[in-house]
Amino acid sequence: MSATGWSPQTWRTRTASQQPQWPDPAELERSEKELAGLPPLVFAGEARRLQSQLAAVAEGRAFLLQAGDCAESFDELSADAIRDKLKVILQMAVVLTYGAGVPVVKVGRIAGQFAKPRSSPTERVGDLQIGSFRGHMVNDDAPTVAARRADPQRMVTAYHHATATLNLIRAFTKGGFADLSQVHSWNQQFVASSEEGRRYEQIAAEIDAALRFMAACGIDLHAEQTLHQVDFYTSHEALILEYEQALTRNDSLSGDFYDCSAHMLWIGERTRQADGAHVEFLSGVHNPLGCKIGPSVDGDELVGLCDRLNPERIPGRLTLITRMGADRAADLLPPLFAAARDAGHPVVWACDPMHGNTFASDSGHKTRRFDDILKELRAFFDAHRQIGTWPGGIHVELTGDDVTECLGGFGDIVEDQLHLRYTTTCDPRLNARQAIDLAFRVAELLRS
Ligand code: PEP
Ligand code: CO
Repeated sequence: MSATGWSPQTWRTRTASQQPQWPDPAELERSEKELAGLPPLVFAGEARRLQSQLAAVAEGRAFLLQAGDCAESFDELSADAIRDKLKVILQMAVVLTYGAGVPVVKVGRIAGQFAKPRSSPTERVGDLQIGSFRGHMVNDDAPTVAARRADPQRMVTAYHHATATLNLIRAFTKGGFADLSQVHSWNQQFVASSEEGRRYEQIAAEIDAALRFMAACGIDLHAEQTLHQVDFYTSHEALILEYEQALTRNDSLSGDFYDCSAHMLWIGERTRQADGAHVEFLSGVHNPLGCKIGPSVDGDELVGLCDRLNPERIPGRLTLITRMGADRAADLLPPLFAAARDAGHPVVWACDPMHGNTFASDSGHKTRRFDDILKELRAFFDAHRQIGTWPGGIHVELTGDDVTECLGGFGDIVEDQLHLRYTTTCDPRLNARQAIDLAFRVAELLRS
């Protein structure tokens, strides 16, 4: 136990919301032991490097792009799916870097985003009331009683899926695929043929020209590592605390605890109670943290969370991810930005324009309107301009696939098309075209 009384298990004395009902304690303990004996997924030094890059965001010198699935699926561990997700995030980063001239810190909702908080613990399927799907780390999404039983061995499977995903990400980002000379190849066929894809091609051509120009000037581009590799970090909602505890390790260099399941962990809107188990657990690990902030938060509660999660006011330690909904963001955000500023907290402010804008279509699909997403983003940028704080980043749900889950955007998806390619296991995601469209709009907001 540390001087502050924190240890990786002190969360167990607090109330943890949104936890599965594990049916058998002995089975749970076996899975926890197995996980605790496995190697860490990330290293403390990597988490520190991300934190120092996020410090630049807190100081208004960089922009955070956090993006990926709502819920990763055990059924989709393919190289193509991971590569295509990475492609669209790299493309968005290029659009933002080139369009707004600021460095972009890239963080995926990936390699561990397997657990979901739910608004209701059960759901109705026909005549049956069954347990809700809580993410593949906990149970299966099939609509049967048996599939929804929480199985702790799934935490171990989640670890192995995360390992394979992260291994491929490391290969892609460090092994040539993310080389800036490949900027054209990230444009997938179905994107390239669209208006946004053509706009992207234009930027890619300008980057090519700039590289040729630098080479002609005698600059040794081969020696410039930043042109050939990308820093790409992992993150997920730290929801299932047994999993997070089992992967928490003491760093031999600093003597500090790091949750080595991902570089960055965040606390969800439903689990951010200041005296709850999630805040207790994450307050003691030294990774950079995120915390979702919804419409019910006021300035005092917000500053209380900052005091609890970042008492030493370390820039880059805490990212607050606002998700207010398009209609309420303009009113709710300015006092919150002002409260953190007045309390002297160095917050990275990121806008999640997705989770406050979800609704069910007439066809029964959970969806979001591209226009609502833009409206919330605009309100976020306006509010920062008003208060004089830095709009630090965006947090979005997307996929590299050509899905039809969100309405509108360049492809102009309408309600009766939602069923065509609706493959998410949880919330609706932007497809690659919508995501790149969004990046262009955000770049414009940043420039202005
Ligand atoms: C999510 O990010 O998928 C999520 C559940 O968000 P929130 O906690 O903001 O509702
Ligand atoms: Co979601």
